[in-house]
Amino acid sequence: MLKPAVHPALMSNPDTITAVKGFRDVLPDETRRWRLLDEAAARVFGRYGFEEIGLPIVERTELFARSIGDTTDIVEKEMYSFADRDGTSLTLRPEATAGVVRAYLESGLAQRDPTARLYYRGPMFRRERPQRGRYRQFHQIGVEAFGREDPLVDAELLVMLTRYLDDVGARDTRLELNSVGDAVCRPVYRERLRAFGTARLAELCPDCHRRLERNPLRILDCKVESCRRVVASAPVVLDSLCDGCRAHLDAVRALLEQESVPYTMNPRLVRGLDYYTRTAFEVVGATLGAQNAVGGGGRYDGLVAALGGPDVSGIGFALGVERLAMVVPAEVGAEIPPAVAVLPLAPEAVGPAFGLATRLRDAGLSVALEPAGRSVKALLRAADRRRARVAFILGEDELRAGRATIRDLVRHEDRRQALALDAPSAVLAETVRSMLGGDA
Ligand code: HAM
Repeated sequence: MLKPAVHPALMSNPDTITAVKGFRDVLPDETRRWRLLDEAAARVFGRYGFEEIGLPIVERTELFARSIGDTTDIVEKEMYSFADRDGTSLTLRPEATAGVVRAYLESGLAQRDPTARLYYRGPMFRRERPQRGRYRQFHQIGVEAFGREDPLVDAELLVMLTRYLDDVGARDTRLELNSVGDAVCRPVYRERLRAFGTARLAELCPDCHRRLERNPLRILDCKVESCRRVVASAPVVLDSLCDGCRAHLDAVRALLEQESVPYTMNPRLVRGLDYYTRTAFEVVGATLGAQNAVGGGGRYDGLVAALGGPDVSGIGFALGVERLAMVVPAEVGAEIPPAVAVLPLAPEAVGPAFGLATRLRDAGLSVALEPAGRSVKALLRAADRRRARVAFILGEDELRAGRATIRDLVRHEDRRQALALDAPSAVLAETVRSMLGGDA
């Protein structure tokens, strides 16, 4: 994603207001691709029974502290929290799983449709250090499935994820899988990790000293270089799994293998949020550099209960749209609807040109209507900028004859063809389509 050149007028003006650091505009070249990513989500996830849910961007701060975990980097350092006028602490959502669980409980879905399958898309906010692929406002497409503990659902979601990535043409990605244990075996692992960290205390940062006391698992995602060196040899959770977690993982793996879904086991994968149990996974982009996680997710069997609901399990994942857009080929979403330019040469042609443009648009065509009073050459240049493929030219001669001249701009040849100015929409559209030779 290239940073476009700033307009010179802005550079010389000290009063210019720019976007906030880490917040970026998404320009049409990119939104066009994003739309395809959204459409593919609706299509592919729909086959697996997922329906879209719209969620608020602001939630009570407490929701995130209780779900993501108050010793995670997200909650400790990265949330945009503020006091509302009545003093309530609110937060711009750093992720959407907590919000989906809240909505699932609050809307009564938990009773009406306990195995609800929901997907969402939209902006998330984390105050991280901005760099390539990492922003303070970013976007996710995510899914959550409730009420099923069986490994079939884990496998179903992973197959769906790979199908989605195939559908959008994602390149150079791999799926990494792990199990992070559950309420039975995680405490055992936690103590093992605490003992390991305590023995290497001198090499760990002050934050990790605190983490060791409160939540040793979080030393595994510390970004400090010396800590990373230490945790590289830390015990892995995979070696501490209880029989239940082991059997669950084996069943998921067997189903993935049955469907020939490629994945690699990554015993060091723990994810940066506290709510995960058992299955955890990430999609990693080989070409992305430091911020290489295109998406991630896993099971969260205790989360619904932790947020005050029944003991219902859940599993989901979220893809980062900015990063996803970096691994799909540039051609994806590059198509622009075939455009038609209506070019009035003389001021008197404005009214008829306006009518012509309206009728062409009514017929479903994308039309650029240029202002009158410029030379044919200038108008054709404008049409070219709009990527028009056919131009309707309305000069004095045309007005007198009551006919527009149509020009083929793709082949740069004068396939002039006269057409009555008051021709109905269907006739206009047919004429354009026949000129485009079936491309429209
Ligand atoms: P997450 O791993 O924190 O998981 O985020 C998912 C994806 O969002 C990441 O893999 C990455 O592509 C993208 N992402 C995260 N932070 C940034 C950032 N600062 N800039 C750009 N992209 C970013 C979750 O959020 C979980 N809620 C996923 C989930 C759903 N688990 C279960 N259900």
